[in-house]
Amino acid sequence: MKIRILFVEADLQVRELLLQTVAQQYHATAVRSAEEAVEQLEKEAFDIVVLDLNLPGMSGLDLLQHCPRLKPGIITIAITAHATIETAVEAMKRGATEFLMKPLVPEDLLSSLSVAAERVSRQALSASSGMAPVDIVAESPVMHTLLNQATSIAPFNTTVLVTGETGTGKELIARAIHQHSPRANKPLVALNCAAIPEQLLEDELFGHVKGAFTGAHAARIGRFEQADGGTLFLDEIGDMSLPLQAKLLRVLQEREFEKLGSSRTTKVDVRIVAATSADLEKRVSDGSFRADLYYRLNVVHLRLPALRLRKEDIRPLAQQLMARFCLSAGLPLKSIAPEVWHVLNSYYWPGNVRQLQNAMERAAALSGARLEIQLADLPEEVRGGAEYGVSTPLTDVTLPTVGTAIPTTIPDEGLSYEAVVATVERELLLKSLKKTGGNKVRAAKLLQMKRTTFAEKLKRLQPDSENDLLDEYQAS
Ligand SMILES: Nc1ncnc2c1ncn2[C@@H]1O[C@H](COP(=O)(O)OP(=O)(O)OP(=O)(O)O)[C@@H](O)[C@H]1O
Ligand SMILES: [Mg+2]
Repeated sequence: MKIRILFVEADLQVRELLLQTVAQQYHATAVRSAEEAVEQLEKEAFDIVVLDLNLPGMSGLDLLQHCPRLKPGIITIAITAHATIETAVEAMKRGATEFLMKPLVPEDLLSSLSVAAERVSRQALSASSGMAPVDIVAESPVMHTLLNQATSIAPFNTTVLVTGETGTGKELIARAIHQHSPRANKPLVALNCAAIPEQLLEDELFGHVKGAFTGAHAARIGRFEQADGGTLFLDEIGDMSLPLQAKLLRVLQEREFEKLGSSRTTKVDVRIVAATSADLEKRVSDGSFRADLYYRLNVVHLRLPALRLRKEDIRPLAQQLMARFCLSAGLPLKSIAPEVWHVLNSYYWPGNVRQLQNAMERAAALSGARLEIQLADLPEEVRGGAEYGVSTPLTDVTLPTVGTAIPTTIPDEGLSYEAVVATVERELLLKSLKKTGGNKVRAAKLLQMKRTTFAEKLKRLQPDSENDLLDEYQAS
């Protein structure tokens, strides 16, 4: 789609320069005044408005304020001949995302526009599915790239594999892909492969004919058929049994299958998006996941990074999640105190965005009539990070992508040894608990530690109740 730009500029020569500069890349219209701009905005859906602040009649500042009312989410860029700090601040307050100085330099204009255009496409992708459209926050470069990839493959029928730790947004991305495909007006059928016992899963996927087995009084349409023309979202694919993996592989290859109890083949046109928080490569190497199925699914692989590896996203996410919650709960919008940011940034977030979401909801609820979220409103385990003397926020520490909290370099200003060690320790304890299904004795054994030492460490990381870590494990 071509981005649509509206220029609002009183000077004819500048108007022509503007139109000429962007003619190749964008679809642009130019008007002379704010009044004409309003008229134009009512008629046509623009993505970006570039306006001179100095306009005859209604002022540029007033127009800035009107723009989002005329079209929510529209991006505005202000032009000015004599920028003072005050006008800049005023324009920003009224929603301008950027400032261009006169005389205009075409390259500057183009570079500002390309940043804005990228935001427009991100917004378009994130106007997600279902009843509650959710904006996908992607401030960090890594999420940015990932969202671009998702946008570019969305229109095709390519199979997509989405992986990432729990709560990183796999389902959100899967839904967005469907929403931005030509299949958007056909069903998106989701199936959680881990939640359904093996024997039932086959029936769920393929359905059966009447009389297929004892108790099959009526025929049943499987998810594959339900999703015909649309998208089938296979969640937790890593947990599918080997026999079913073989059956799924065949459907992916042939696009056809037989319902239980039937010898007739059913043909379907379904796009597959699969997700898992399991390490599929590892499962392939230990034989619990078929390599051929893995390669079938892995046509496009979107790897969602853990939240702690993209700290730039923490703030905008927290703000969005807070706003989402306050809006849905009918609360006034709450702000977040400066000292809280520090803690949010340095925490390890094993439950990723979902955990941040829970923390924000809890904080909003606990803060009562207060309009500002304070440290005390954060869950114990999150505050924990601060108690261990994080004197330097861990924000600036570069984290390796292997998912450990050990910084690759020590920043010039130094870092808190205690905090890093506490984070690593906590990660090990949690991982071990996860692996053993919460069994502390076995978890201790795995870490070659005495049970009592394990319990002690658990307690030290969770001064008030050692069960919080367990809760966290269970919640994840
Ligand atoms: N980038 C994001 N921007 C906005 N909201 C997000 C983002 N990522 C995740 N969320 C929100 O976080 C929550 C968890 O996301 P989602 O259910 O997609 O995660 P998941 O990876 O499927 O988790 P799980 O592995 O536990 O199934 C959702 O409420 C989702 O809307
Ligand atoms: Mg999920």
